[in-house]
Parts: sequence; structure tokens; C-alpha cells
Amino acid sequence: MAIIKVAKEDLRERDNAFAELSEYFSALSVTKGRDITYNVRTYGCQLNESDSEKLCGMLQQIGLKEVKGEASADVIIFNTCAVRENAEDRLFGNLGIVKADKKSDKDKIIGVCGCMTKVPENVEKIKKSFPYVDLVFDPQQLHLFPVFLRDAIGKKKQLVNISAEDYIVDDSLVPITRKRKFRALVPIMYGCNNFCTYCIVPYARGRERSRDLSEIIDELNKLASQGYKEVMLLGQNVNSYKGSNGERFPDVLEAAAKIDGFNRIRFMSSHPKDISTEIIDMVAEHPNIETHLHLPLQSGSDRILKLMNRPYNREEYLKTAHYFRERVPNGSISTDIIVGFPGETEEDFLGTLEVVKECAFDSAFTFQYSKRPGTKAASMEDQIPHDVVTDRFGRLLDLQNDLAYKSNLAKVGKTEEILIEGQSSTAPDILTGRTMSNHLVNFTIPDALKDPGKTSDDYEGMLCDVKFTNARPYSVDGEMVRLK
Ligand code: 5AD
Ligand code: SF4
Repeated sequence: MAIIKVAKEDLRERDNAFAELSEYFSALSVTKGRDITYNVRTYGCQLNESDSEKLCGMLQQIGLKEVKGEASADVIIFNTCAVRENAEDRLFGNLGIVKADKKSDKDKIIGVCGCMTKVPENVEKIKKSFPYVDLVFDPQQLHLFPVFLRDAIGKKKQLVNISAEDYIVDDSLVPITRKRKFRALVPIMYGCNNFCTYCIVPYARGRERSRDLSEIIDELNKLASQGYKEVMLLGQNVNSYKGSNGERFPDVLEAAAKIDGFNRIRFMSSHPKDISTEIIDMVAEHPNIETHLHLPLQSGSDRILKLMNRPYNREEYLKTAHYFRERVPNGSISTDIIVGFPGETEEDFLGTLEVVKECAFDSAFTFQYSKRPGTKAASMEDQIPHDVVTDRFGRLLDLQNDLAYKSNLAKVGKTEEILIEGQSSTAPDILTGRTMSNHLVNFTIPDALKDPGKTSDDYEGMLCDVKFTNARPYSVDGEMVRLK
């Protein structure tokens, strides 16, 4: 499959579409006597969140205003995830819910994009069961969204545009409305070549392709000058980064660390087969690279790792984890684990528990295996019965919850720098943020440090020192001791 690099001159048609859509929606705004609004609902990973920031950027450029919740929006885009079946089910549920809104307002536009659109069965189901969806387009052609939107509005029938090609677009050519004022998501590479046997991503996101390092550095410099404190370098497998002049991931990390302005540089995800001691050394040595490593384990059994097509074994994984602990003593390791992969025996599962215990993961995303049509594992014999999977999943969760609590408990009594993310969702006078090691912290501001002129929102993106007072299973409580 060819990789198509999209240049500015290829986007002339999109510029026309931007102009035509602006005209169309401003006329609609006059007719309706109000602003025309949009809502982008994101499912799944940070790469999808990054794509959604681009969709929002393009919708803003057309002149639409963002609203919360789909119900009242004039343009609703569902940016979907196909990694597990439950995310797919949620989309179909939500498409059912917006049907009535579409019926009562014919001008409403409903779009579906993201990884689900690359699975032909899903597209067929949308065509058949949700004919009122106006457009379906795939994540590789996100940059052409205005063209699809214009054509869907013009044709007044469902428009489906799924490409067979892999695209790479200079991200500076796509407008972005960033969701957070302090954290910028910066994809450095797209796609995946690994074909883990359970995973749909290589089919949905295509082959690996990396952005040019110079382009990434330009974006990072711009973000630093705009005041972003945290940058997340993203890729399905960041360690596979390959620049056009032979640059590798450590070159990207080094370049980001050298830029003046970022307090925190994060990267994800790393693949255990590719992560090098060089990268861990960089985490240890650069004060602005976060002391956190996300290293998906998937399974602690060598036999299952082989069946998963994960080319590392338990011993190699443990070696990397121990090296990280040694070099980055105050750091944290998080992971992804799948329970109930086809053929997983009780012994295999106990192997996973052992590795989890030995690594003492600070946090983990644990998943029940979900059969993905088209992947190799879907046709493997010995699919594990649901009750066995849920039993193992519960045991893993109990162990991991205990480890996460212990990791939080180890923080109590210490004082560390927090990047403030905003007001806590549970209490208005509590702020929330993260340590350099990615621990979630909820904290209060003592009266002596309170600024009556500031609302909780004003603190978003500021740095402060917090003394930790109490541990919870998923977070640490604390009190601010100094605002920076
Ligand atoms: N079933 C369950 N979990 C999966 N993941 C990927 N594919 C599947 C699947 N078919 C998990 C992996 C991956 C994370 C993003 O999602 O753990 O690291
Ligand atoms: Fe999926 Fe494996 Fe690629 Fe991760 S490395 S996106 S799990 S195929």
C-alpha cells in the first residue's frame, strides 16, 4: 500500500469547501436566528482525541460554535474506536439516540469517522440500520473532512468515503482547536506495523508513517511560545519513529527536551520490544521529561505473548521494568493487560499476576479480550468462556487496585510539583492535577494561599507544590503549599 504525502497544493478543493460551508452555515444561522453549533464525541485513545482536535479546528474555521452534548448540536461527529466491542456498541447506541433529533431537524448533520469506519461490517451496518447518518469517512482522510461535509450536505443522501490508501499530512495544514490550555497532543507518527494478533489498529490506521522531525520541531516551538506547559508525543508505537533523514525516537525526545518552555514531556505508547535503555536514560537525565513510562505488557505468559505476536518475553519485559525503577526511582510505570486471550490457561494467567506483582505497576489499563473480526486471534481455537474471563479479570483488578493504592500511599508525606488540570469533578473547591510521575492528585488551597480574584478555572495550567496527606485507590489527596 502506498503512503501518500499530502502537500498544501493538494488541499485546494478543501479551501473551496471551507468557503462554501462558511457561506451555507452563515445563511442557515440567519434562517434559524441563532449560532450554528457542533459537537464532536470522541471514543478511545489519545490519537483519536488528537484527531478530534483537528475536526474541531476545521468546524471552527467554518464558523460553527462548540456545544456540550450531542442533542442540541447542528453538526454531530462521532469519532469512533474499534479496539474493543463495547466501544462499538456505545456508538450504535448513541446513533439510535440521535435519530429522533435528526427527524425533528432535517438540517442537522450526523457524521461518523474514526477506526470503526475501516471495518467493512460496521459501514454496512451504518448503511442498513442508520440511513439517517449523513456522512461516514475514515481517519486517514480527516484533512478532507470539509470536502465530505460539503458534498454530504449538497447530495442529501448518505455519503461514504473510505480510502484504501495511507496518508500523511503536514499537521500544520490542518487547523487545530486544542481541548486543554496546558497540554498539547502532538502525534509524531501514525499507523502500526506490528499486527498483534488481537488488534484491529493496523487495519484501521494503516502502516507506520512518521512526520518529518523539522515539522515536529516547528510545531513544538510554536506550542512553547503559546505557553503550553505539557506536550504529549503520540504514536501507536513511538519507538518506531523514523524521520526522513534517518532520525529515530530519541532524536525527537531530545529535540523536545531542548525546547525552552515545556515543563513536562510525555510520550506514548512504547512497545517493550523497541524501548531502549537510551530512552530510559533520557527520562532519568532530562528534568523536563516526565518520570513515567507506559509499557503495555498484555500478558505475563511467554506462550501467550507468542500467540499474540508480541516479540518479547517475560524476562525481557521484567529487565526493562527493573532498569526503569533503578534509573528513575521516583517514577511510575503503567501498562495495558488483556485477560482471556484465546488459549489462556490458569497457569498463563497466574504468570500475568506474577509479572504484575513483580513490576508493582503504579497503574494499569486492564481489558477483557474482545474478539475483533478480521484479526488473526478471532479465528483461533479455544476462545475463553465469558465466566472464566470475568473471574480472572476480577482477580487481576483486585491485585492491581492494591498495587495502585500502595503506589499512592508511598507519596503521603512528600511534597511534589503538580501541573493543575482544573477543578475536580466531585467538589468545586478541590483542584486536580498530576505529579511528574503521572499520579493523579486532588488538593485544596489553604486560606492563606487563596486568591479571591481567581476562580478554579484560572488555575488550569499553573504549577504548584502540593503536600500529600492521604492516599486513595486511584488518587492522592493533598494541600497546596506554594503556587508557582
Ligand atoms: N481486546 C481487548 N483489548 C485490546 N486491546 C487492543 N485490542 C484488544 C482486544 N481485541 C488493548 C491492548 C492495547 C490497548 C490500547 O487496548 O491492551 O494496548
Ligand atoms: Fe495494536 Fe500491537 Fe500495534 Fe499496539 S503495537 S496498536 S496493540 S497492533
